[in-house]
Amino acid sequence: MKKKVLLTRTLHDFALKELRKKYQIEIHSGKIPIPQTKLRSRIKEIEGLICFPYDKIDKEMIKHARNLKVISTYSVGFDHIDTEYAKEKKIRVGYTPEVLTDATADLAFSLMLDIARRVSEGDRIIRNGKWNEIYGAYDYVGTDLQGKTLGIFGLGRIGSTLAKRAKAFDMKIIYHNRKHVSKSKEKALGAKYVSFEKLISDSDFLSVHVPHTKETDHLFNLKIFRKMKKTAFLINTSRGKVVNQRDLESALKKKTISGAGLDVFEMEPIKKNNPLCKLENIVLAPHIGSSTKETRKKMAEITVKNLILGMNGKKPIYSVGY
Ligand code: DGY
Repeated sequence: MKKKVLLTRTLHDFALKELRKKYQIEIHSGKIPIPQTKLRSRIKEIEGLICFPYDKIDKEMIKHARNLKVISTYSVGFDHIDTEYAKEKKIRVGYTPEVLTDATADLAFSLMLDIARRVSEGDRIIRNGKWNEIYGAYDYVGTDLQGKTLGIFGLGRIGSTLAKRAKAFDMKIIYHNRKHVSKSKEKALGAKYVSFEKLISDSDFLSVHVPHTKETDHLFNLKIFRKMKKTAFLINTSRGKVVNQRDLESALKKKTISGAGLDVFEMEPIKKNNPLCKLENIVLAPHIGSSTKETRKKMAEITVKNLILGMNGKKPIYSVGY
């Protein structure tokens, strides 16, 4: 009898084919994310789980697992999984870093360019037949990236790749991390370590690249926005809960900061009537940091490899802790 694997959403055909050769697979269809009740009933029987960032795999959920050997998430983020408890239960957790670094850094950079040059706003102006209202020399101006300071909060893989992009645009780069990166890396990226306070006060563009943890929960709030430059822009492609969305909404409305570009939100998906959708000084993306054909294919390959390794009692290629 083939071992059972559940996928909480479908994956590329090549990945399903590979999985079917080895396992009896069930693919959840219908409402996304998979209802917790359904997941609870299935997790009792399966040995492998392929999940996605919206699936909550907390301690309560994992407690229902009897034979689960591996959780393979199709994402670099794993804040939706209680990895500590999984480890305690000897369940491996695989994830997909590296392959999505370029795509996510590109998205952060495009949000930055878009909000600075008001591209999406201009698109709305044209579609609403208002181009003739912005003919004046000062009517519709953006902001240069050249010569501006990019503050990177979290100079890991994605933050460093963003720094490379920014260097080519002649931006000044400062960063804050728990630890300094090596001198040679700082030199290669042209990045200077600063305190968190200085990162906040000196950045013209502030891009967030940290996971969502207890420490980073709502770290970016009104108190912080008030310390930023009035002309500054906040970019977030990490996790929505790192930013207090209500506070951001208020800061954007009152022009406490100039604008924002977000790919992630506290609750996803956001609805059309979300107050953020009424603001012009924000660019909104539907959590598409890793969403290119090439990257998503690589993520599927790693997700399957991680799963197979875990099913065989081995450590996934990219493994959280165990
Ligand atoms: C990730 O991989 O964690 C991304 O946020 C999902 O697209």
